[in-house]
Amino acid sequence: MTAYDYPTGRAIDRAHLDMCLVGDSLAMVALGYASTTQVTMDEMIHHARAVARGCKRAFLIGDLPFGAFEHPQDAARNAARYVREAQMEAVKLEGGRDMAPSVREIVRCGVPVMGHIGLTPQRQTQLGGFRVQGKSLAAAQRLVEDALALQDAGCFSLVLEAIPEDVAAYITQRLAIPTIGIGAGASTSGQVLVLPDALGVEDRVPKFCRQFGDLGHATTAALAEYHASVREGRFPQSGTHTYAMPAAEREAFLA
Ligand code: KIV
Ligand code: NA
Repeated sequence: MTAYDYPTGRAIDRAHLDMCLVGDSLAMVALGYASTTQVTMDEMIHHARAVARGCKRAFLIGDLPFGAFEHPQDAARNAARYVREAQMEAVKLEGGRDMAPSVREIVRCGVPVMGHIGLTPQRQTQLGGFRVQGKSLAAAQRLVEDALALQDAGCFSLVLEAIPEDVAAYITQRLAIPTIGIGAGASTSGQVLVLPDALGVEDRVPKFCRQFGDLGHATTAALAEYHASVREGRFPQSGTHTYAMPAAEREAFLA
């Protein structure tokens, strides 16, 4: 599951999830940017530090944002920042075989790397939007080759996003490292979702997402009830939500 701050990091631990990704989906679901390409490494670090304060048990992965890992030396420097400044235990980066040199350099510097292929949101313009990848034979074969190249470069795991379930099953079976699917069917080694999508905070979610909660409506309803209660004098209630003085002090004060 993804997390973006102290309370969501803590929730991951309390629910006993295995891994916690500080995803660059942060850009869209927590910071209100139009695209993940707008979030900076500094912003990612700021949030990753908060997640780490709340999440002590789950394995922590920091997502390298657009522009932070395309050159191997930048990749290694930014991976080290995640470890040193934000207590991340691994990093994730988007892209296929072209990213192998960056993966190798990060691993050489001692940081585990998770790959991410299929729908890679940082490249949404190149991909023609948020759409399923690997539907043609040629595209599916390219995904298999990318997966093998990333494993070869040293990735400890791969995210497979929005690809046909048969392609994800095949890649999972071909690789020695575990796959983590999102919109890739049930045959991957594990699953990941974007937290606000899974909790029902976002109004619109992709086809592959299931909303396991209804926090969007619950939040609006709670705020509306608070507002009405204050205006109608139902909150705060004397005795329940208030502090009293000792009787003698009170008498003297009111006299
Ligand atoms: O940024 C993110 O949330 C992700 C996951 C969807 C894998 O990359
Ligand atoms: Na991401």
